[in-house]
Amino acid sequence: MSQDVTPETSPAEPDAQPLADRGSNRAQRPGSPEFVAWITSGWGERPASSATRSPAADHTASRRSALSGQFSGERLVVPAGTFKVRSNDTDYRFRPHSAFAHLTGLGVEQEPDAVLVLHPVEDGAGDDGSGHHAVLYVRPLAGRDTDEFFSDSRYGEFWVGARPTLEDLETTTGITTRHIDDLRDALAKDVGPDGVQVLVVPGADETVEAVVEEIRAAEAAGARDEKLAEALSELRLIKDAYEIEQMQLAVDVTIEGFVKIVSRLPVAQEHERGERVIEGTFVGHARQEGNAVGYETIAAAGEHATTLHWIDNDGPVRAGELVLIDAGVEVDSLYTADVTRTLPVDGTFTEVQRRVYQAVLDAADAAFAVAVPGARFRDIHAAAMEVIAHRLADWGLLPVTAEEALDPEKQHHRRWMVHGTSHHLGIDVHDCALARSEHYLDAVLEPGMVFTIEPGLYFKSDDLVVPAEYRGIGVRIEDDVLITADGNVNLSAALPREPDAIEAWMADLLQ
Ligand code: GLY
Ligand code: MN
Ligand code: MN
Repeated sequence: MSQDVTPETSPAEPDAQPLADRGSNRAQRPGSPEFVAWITSGWGERPASSATRSPAADHTASRRSALSGQFSGERLVVPAGTFKVRSNDTDYRFRPHSAFAHLTGLGVEQEPDAVLVLHPVEDGAGDDGSGHHAVLYVRPLAGRDTDEFFSDSRYGEFWVGARPTLEDLETTTGITTRHIDDLRDALAKDVGPDGVQVLVVPGADETVEAVVEEIRAAEAAGARDEKLAEALSELRLIKDAYEIEQMQLAVDVTIEGFVKIVSRLPVAQEHERGERVIEGTFVGHARQEGNAVGYETIAAAGEHATTLHWIDNDGPVRAGELVLIDAGVEVDSLYTADVTRTLPVDGTFTEVQRRVYQAVLDAADAAFAVAVPGARFRDIHAAAMEVIAHRLADWGLLPVTAEEALDPEKQHHRRWMVHGTSHHLGIDVHDCALARSEHYLDAVLEPGMVFTIEPGLYFKSDDLVVPAEYRGIGVRIEDDVLITADGNVNLSAALPREPDAIEAWMADLLQ
């Protein structure tokens, strides 16, 4: 038996306004022809363009050439991406896809909906003697005689300011720039079973991907999109001179943020959510001096430090405890630092805190000692773990010897450090994440690689395996490292990391 469950009190309303249209119900914007003619006229000349060539533009052509060599004859589509909705009609601040930023040199909020295309040409006939010609397709600033000018809250000049013109972006990037309306035809040109294959970076922009899929219906071969994503990730394994400069800048600005945090520790101790005082101090600094934070700040006081990704940051900050701060400023070019310091809240380590801290520091130093050209990436972690396992054995915490624990089949010491020791760092905090294992963990270290060294020890407060004095202590020390021709440089060395140096530095800042 079927039943009509429509309540009599709510009859269907065939002429009801669709939900999708109701967002405009609060708007009282006039739309009469007289008003439109009025608001789109009477404006002065726009000022001359202030666009200048970006310093990154001198480096991006060789990055694109290196990619070109791996995809001869194929058309490569690298979208910047579009806005992401935070809720309802509110977007997150736009950040371009990292591969797009790397190949164009564009940063900050540049440029929603843009698409970089590397068009295949005869080998050697392309940009920089490569087999591809780069074209940037963008949605440029609309004229003041358009609806967009005053009525489009995402793109309109009245709402978000004057966006760049095609000429501006060509000047900034040094890349041929065309209107986004030309994209579809440009992608479809010469595509076919015997013609050009089109590859698109997966997950960057679903609208662009849909266009590519439609065009690819005419192709014979399957897409090699994953190969493109992998190549773009591996392209960033070795940083060029500009990238290294930007990494050092990101680290330097981050260090300034740690200085501000220490100065605010007395305020943090007075606040019931002192961890938020720390986070807020750093986030404000990052927005003021850079683009943003490169990842959510971890401000973990006391036992919270044993939760590896503690980003709630809603706890108190108490004298006598440690506070673990893992924070990085992303500068305008989008390169980010990733630095951790574990500090005594009142400026002085207790004996047991210092013991744990020193073990982590010794593990970090052992990792630094092997991080030289010719070593393998995986040797860094092994060196740190050698120290950690022996120290835990010395303290009587392991049920086996250190050597037995270090056996890949046992690993008892990892109970207190479940994360890895190092990851590549750059435009993404976990940069080069799609690189093949032979180019990452099993790779031989080369000059220009930038990565973290970040051992830690974390004793949870309910860990019955360890003596009570260790419980609730979490320590991580994280530095950002550049491999050079004859060793390495600790880019974050200016931030104190020895316990005595930390106490002296804090005393100076807190006096
Ligand atoms: N801050 C994230 C990490 O250290 O990998
Ligand atoms: Mn890290
Ligand atoms: Mn970190």
